[in-house]
Amino acid sequence: MTISESAAVRAADTGHLWHPWSPIRGGERLLPVEGHGCRVRDDQGHTYLDLRAGTLNATVGYGHPRVVEALREQAARLMTWDLAEVTTVPAAILAERIASLLPAALTRTLFCNSGSEATEAAVKIARMWHRLAGRTERTVILSYADGYHGTTTAGIAATASPFRREGSGPLPDGYAHLTTPRCAECAAGARHANCRVPGGEEWEEHILAIGPEVIAAILVEPVLSVGGVIVPQPGRLGELRGLCDRYGILLIVDEVATGFGRTGRMFAFEHDLEAPVGPDILTTAKGLTGGYAPLAAVTVRSDIYSAFAQDPLLGGLRHGHTTGGHATACAAALAVLDVLEEDKLVPAAAERGAQLLARLGVLSEYRDRERGVREVRGLGLMIGVEMSSVELATQVSQAAQVRGVLVRSFGPVLTVAPPLILTEEEAEFGAGVLIEAVRAVSAGVQS
Ligand SMILES: Cc1ncc(COP(=O)(O)O)c(C=O)c1O
Repeated sequence: MTISESAAVRAADTGHLWHPWSPIRGGERLLPVEGHGCRVRDDQGHTYLDLRAGTLNATVGYGHPRVVEALREQAARLMTWDLAEVTTVPAAILAERIASLLPAALTRTLFCNSGSEATEAAVKIARMWHRLAGRTERTVILSYADGYHGTTTAGIAATASPFRREGSGPLPDGYAHLTTPRCAECAAGARHANCRVPGGEEWEEHILAIGPEVIAAILVEPVLSVGGVIVPQPGRLGELRGLCDRYGILLIVDEVATGFGRTGRMFAFEHDLEAPVGPDILTTAKGLTGGYAPLAAVTVRSDIYSAFAQDPLLGGLRHGHTTGGHATACAAALAVLDVLEEDKLVPAAAERGAQLLARLGVLSEYRDRERGVREVRGLGLMIGVEMSSVELATQVSQAAQVRGVLVRSFGPVLTVAPPLILTEEEAEFGAGVLIEAVRAVSAGVQS
């Protein structure tokens, strides 16, 4: 990109683009113009190792020839068709392919465009399903207090964070929050010996206090993403599965961030639930197309799907989007799934994640010296480095960027979630730069 082209783009940006989730400010922004593998190049010609995979979605990296060709081929052949009454080749084949990756009961997929829309649809499906069976009082959705489920009405209502909700009310009724499975003292930065992590018993008390007969679904992420890479202890999802079974509640697992390999299993729920056990409803998005096109999926148990034949107004689901299941996006997803399987990227994510976690573990020494690192934690290639403040996290991500590595900070947590194709050498380099960035910031030197 020439200097004048870059200047024109920057003027257009500062003059007209409204950046989501960003303070309104002037000044330079990163302007990536092309990518290859795990690296992106900006308009100034600087190359960065992308340890954030865009926004956790570029799982097979940038410029993957196979995915690009699938996009090109489908766009030329038939770029889109709304799936109400009609079907398309890539949408039907992708729905079948998703079912083949899941426990046998999860057979039916509704496509949407974004993770937030998937939340919206999953909540609606859960409530409508109970209603169709005459359980009209079952409307409440329970989710973790630190979870994140998107920005549309259902997503924001299911997300408790005041930062994300403030000002968008009145929010709908019918949402409540379970204590996040994380030790509250650790979350507050205290160093102590006996962690107490909320779980089954406490959750059951909460369910009983609300009244199980009004609860439609429990909606959780198996590993919390935007809420700060919180990895619940093994068994927590199993406890929720048990509570749902005991009280006739649906379990919705939100794998928008974790689905399709990120945690070292195809789906993160597999760490806790062994087939044939699974969620009743699964939402996925980011990794589904590896960031090549917007697409999300809501996959449900076959009997949940079948019940909608009884809908008195349609005999089906009264919900959908013009571009939900967009043919070109589905073609990209099929190519991404081929790449994931053929290149064995799911076990690779487990291996590379273990390498990164071990290497970044040296940052724990900064915890002892009170230099700002609170905890390093993760599962597969979903790793969080929690700093003691949002400012420190921002400074570290800036210091890393100056040194050629991109990470995303969500609040005080630096999120290391690279493409699953990251090589051993890239992991070594990226971890080294991050460690150096943390050291530099703790020592008061940022660049
Ligand atoms: C777990 C989870 N659910 C839902 C969403 C919302 O997805 P989208 O940004 O595609 O609307 C996100 C986005 O980060 C997410 O991480």
